[in-house]
Amino acid sequence: MSDSSASRLPASAAPEGPLGVVITGGSRGLGLAMAQRFLAAGDAVVLCARDAERLEVARAELVTATGAGERLHTVACDVADPEAAERLADFAVERLGSIHRWLNNAGTAGRHKRPLVELSAADIAETCTTNLTGSMQLCAAALRRMQAQPAAPEPRYHLFNFGFSGLGAHFSRTSIPHRVSKLGVAELSRQLRRELQASGEQGIGVHELRPGLVRTELLLADLPEQARPIIDRLAEPPEQVADALVPRVRGITGTGRTLQYRSPLATLVRALSAVPTLRRVR
Ligand SMILES: NC(=O)c1ccc[n+]([C@@H]2O[C@H](COP(=O)([O-])OP(=O)(O)OC[C@H]3O[C@@H](n4cnc5c(N)ncnc54)[C@H](OP(=O)(O)O)[C@@H]3O)[C@@H](O)[C@H]2O)c1
Repeated sequence: MSDSSASRLPASAAPEGPLGVVITGGSRGLGLAMAQRFLAAGDAVVLCARDAERLEVARAELVTATGAGERLHTVACDVADPEAAERLADFAVERLGSIHRWLNNAGTAGRHKRPLVELSAADIAETCTTNLTGSMQLCAAALRRMQAQPAAPEPRYHLFNFGFSGLGAHFSRTSIPHRVSKLGVAELSRQLRRELQASGEQGIGVHELRPGLVRTELLLADLPEQARPIIDRLAEPPEQVADALVPRVRGITGTGRTLQYRSPLATLVRALSAVPTLRRVR
């Protein structure tokens, strides 16, 4: 796990106590695994997803695993719906009191991992609105609530987006709407930090969370058969990624961090794939 930092403050410290945490898209995959770790740490968690039945199954799993039913609050919502962000934020304030961490985890790689010309208009729109417009609306709604909470001289409330680096987009074999919307999400974080800094806001941190390759439905759906053996080797189970990331999210300080999980094997493969380029440069 690496932490590239824009500010010189220590990347993490002991969190101030039980936190109020919002995770969008928590009915499966990484969101679900992270929710379990926050609950196990004593935090209160709000989770959302579109499929209400699956969210209920996730809720039952989390309660069985952590015994934290009274600290877990679930609500069905579609983050691509323009009205959803405000409703979710109101629900979070009502249930948590204060929001300390907001994770815009809900995301999609689209229904198909195919060239743009083979994608339907609905698929393109759903990917872009979920990933980019959704994250933007959720950032606005979360910030409005955080700014209404007791002010702090340094970041006390933290927003996390799940964007792509240029390198991530280069290596990804997903569709263009996925890669472009996720590059947009990373730019959203940068622009938001600039805006907050210009307005003198010091109490809110905005960060990127990059989980690497995680063995989830998002990664495995419509995966070309020849890619499976590679993904099987490189992708990590969501539980392992959550184990590494959640303590860092809980203890985050400053603003502009990129919390990144990279398995040892993925690190090695990336290093090896850079060798031909290095040879050319030399
Ligand atoms: N898996 C990877 O290798 C990988 C790599 C880099 C980054 N990421 C990022 O990590 C995040 C989590 O991905 P994952 O792999 O855990 O995906 P996943 O297993 O497909 O889970 C996605 C979650 O988001 C929810 N969701 C999707 N669209 C939604 C919407 N419009 N509104 C509300 N909830 C929605 C899903 O539930 P419903 O379908 O019921 O709504 C589900 O709970 C994403 O932002 C993804 O881009 C993943």
